[in-house]
Amino acid sequence: MRVLLAGATGYIGRAVLNELLAQDYEVLVLVRPGSGGNVASSPALTVIEADVLADPTWQRSLGQVDAVISCVASRSGAPADAERVEFGFNRALLEYAEQTGVSRFILLSAICVQKPRLAFQREKLKFEALLSKSSVPGTIIRPTAFFRSLAGQIERVRAGKPFLLFGSGHLTACKPISDRDLARFMVLKLMDASEGTHVYPIGGPGPALTPQEQGRLLCEALGKPFRTTSVPPEMFDWMRWLIAPLAWFSSGMRDRAEFLRIAKFYATESMLVWDESSQRYDARNTPEFGTDTLSGFYAKVCSGELPLPERGEQRLF
Ligand SMILES: NC(=O)c1ccc[n+]([C@@H]2O[C@H](COP(=O)([O-])OP(=O)(O)OC[C@H]3O[C@@H](n4cnc5c(N)ncnc54)[C@H](OP(=O)(O)O)[C@@H]3O)[C@@H](O)[C@H]2O)c1
Repeated sequence: MRVLLAGATGYIGRAVLNELLAQDYEVLVLVRPGSGGNVASSPALTVIEADVLADPTWQRSLGQVDAVISCVASRSGAPADAERVEFGFNRALLEYAEQTGVSRFILLSAICVQKPRLAFQREKLKFEALLSKSSVPGTIIRPTAFFRSLAGQIERVRAGKPFLLFGSGHLTACKPISDRDLARFMVLKLMDASEGTHVYPIGGPGPALTPQEQGRLLCEALGKPFRTTSVPPEMFDWMRWLIAPLAWFSSGMRDRAEFLRIAKFYATESMLVWDESSQRYDARNTPEFGTDTLSGFYAKVCSGELPLPERGEQRLF
């Protein structure tokens, strides 16, 4: 089976590429011009460098593939970039898939789109809707928090500082999933032969963990006493109000305001399945997959067995 993978230079895309190669798929990776060197080499791998958003002939050298997996994501979350990448890039991929009769399109989305309050979430939903209407069968994967997103305080706590909580530290919860387990889940979906488009919320092995519990696990892994300090999540609103007048004139400040909205969202919303009828997040109904645990990940990073994951542009700590 020949698979086209977009986003192979990202955190999850890299893990998906490793999994595809481990399972003997023939893979074409689509990367930005000049980024080919950032992808592992293998005889089963063809690297295509193309500017999908600017070059209308980007598909020329691809030929026929059986499935498309998209792990592309806006690196900044800024509204204009989210529109270009989360929607525009994926739409271009889907047009190619439709024209060439691809049998499955697998999309890396996010569980947080259940409560769309942010620009990038709305762009993701716009594309999910397009995929659902397409003739190409779609698989929409909506994961909970990645391990990488919960690694931001390792250096801080190692340096002897207390673990930083928003509010009580019990405002939110998630079932963290490793890049490897998520990649396995996504690659498994290539075997799905069903028609239509299906949505899969997915977490790692339970139970759901609050930031308090995550902090305790991190302190244990570092052999530090569990000490916390707390800030109110409303501080992100206060900062946003402070820069609001500047955001009228500066697109940079508007992006900054969106980043503060994103930070407030993650400080106050759980990454679990939302139950519309009870208006609550539901840990029990959040599906689990895989074997990698957050405590195992912390232990490996703290001992140096695993490198600290490269952090995204939207990091808080
Ligand atoms: N963080 C979490 O806990 C979490 C949880 C659930 C879901 N998610 C979702 O997962 C996604 C993030 O995944 P990730 O961490 O693997 O992302 P990432 O590491 O930021 O990688 C993003 C990928 O998209 C590519 N890309 C971005 N803009 C591009 C452009 N203009 N043209 C071509 N390629 C472009 C990047 O290529 P370059 O390397 O060339 O920039 C990279 O390969 C987001 O959709 C997020 O909502 C995240």
